[in-house]
Amino acid sequence: MPFIEWDEKYSVNVKEIDDQHKSLFQIINDLNDAVSAGKAQDVIEATVSKMIDYAKVHFATEEKYLTKFRYHEYAEHKKEHDNFNIKVLAMHERLKSGVYILSSEISRFIKDWLTNHILVIDKKYGPFLNDNGII
Ligand code: FEO
Repeated sequence: MPFIEWDEKYSVNVKEIDDQHKSLFQIINDLNDAVSAGKAQDVIEATVSKMIDYAKVHFATEEKYLTKFRYHEYAEHKKEHDNFNIKVLAMHERLKSGVYILSSEISRFIKDWLTNHILVIDKKYGPFLNDNGII
């Protein structure tokens, strides 16, 4: 059973963004698999790095649409993305420098952050983007 499974409740009703969220879920599952299998620290580090890169692409997609249509909660939304980047980059730096960090802590943090963010923050812009022709 996957660590995190896609469900319609996560849909923001915009295909491009749902597909990106699904890809992020896949990376979280890959990370969790690596941690569970006791893979080497460098494999775990590489998966976290992939997550950081893909999250950047994803956040840029959302921010592009939200600024284009002047979404009223853009500033708060962008702040959430920035806070995620700061936290995960700090975890990644600790991993890279060999400082002990419980790998399962990272996958749990990313899973909890992403699911809460999608369900509470992302879901709010769905109808707004739909009204602007983005589906
Ligand atoms: Fe899907 Fe606002 O991140």
